Amino acid sequence: MPESTQARPSSRVLPHELPASLREAGLDNWIREPLDDAVDRRRRIIMPPAVATTGTPLSACKGAVLAEARHPDTVFMMGDNPALPTMPERPVLKDFFLLRFGPISRTHLLQSARVARENGLDEKVIMACLLHDIAIAGLLSANHGYWGAQIVAPYVDEEVCWAIEKHEALRYFPDESVGYTYPEAYINYFGPDYRPPDYIRREHEAARQHRWYMTSRLITINDIYSFDPDVVVDFDEFEDVVGRNFRQPAEGLGFDGSPVAHMWRTMIWPNNFL
Ligand SMILES: [Fe+2]
Ligand SMILES: [Fe+2]
Repeated sequence: MPESTQARPSSRVLPHELPASLREAGLDNWIREPLDDAVDRRRRIIMPPAVATTGTPLSACKGAVLAEARHPDTVFMMGDNPALPTMPERPVLKDFFLLRFGPISRTHLLQSARVARENGLDEKVIMACLLHDIAIAGLLSANHGYWGAQIVAPYVDEEVCWAIEKHEALRYFPDESVGYTYPEAYINYFGPDYRPPDYIRREHEAARQHRWYMTSRLITINDIYSFDPDVVVDFDEFEDVVGRNFRQPAEGLGFDGSPVAHMWRTMIWPNNFL
């Protein structure tokens, strides 16, 4: 198994072969030339998902993308995207880390888990750190704590799941009694005047009263806000923790019929049209 997400050779359709509307929207990157191993050697189009385009000029281009798909020998992307490494039939958590998550997210999660372990924290906390930004890594950034908690809910302890969900709110609020200050990185990301919305404030207040507060707070303390993709942490460092704290389904993640199986399948085939 490759140790990183390696895009296989693929090529864009030459921009002059596309309508001007698609070229101007930068959509030439979403349309792939037929590859040697592509189904029927057809041109395959990736329709950018609504969450990636709403509020951007790309949202006006869906009609042009649909029109492009009516050309002969052109279909929408469904199933394996040849530009991505193929996932095994019964994927396990490690496969998502190595074959789907990009180097920055992967390193961020592994580094956070390593710091938690070096700090001598409980395995539940190490597991929560390893998974805390899994939604950003493979699915969606907005509301990532909530998405991430849902994705892993059937497979981890309820406390781990709760901690992942609540880190979404807790990371905005200092707790000096345990040495957590507002992250410098957030001043850069959001500006010095950013104020979290009221629902996040309420979530934070409620979480502070909860018996598992410190589990979630420890995610924010061990969160690494400086992303260094050159730091290499091997997933196998956590094989033991994962083995004891993540209930891997025999059918593979995405195929166990759980209420969240579709979320794992979306990470396996992120470019499916429908
Ligand atoms: Fe996070
Ligand atoms: Fe994080």
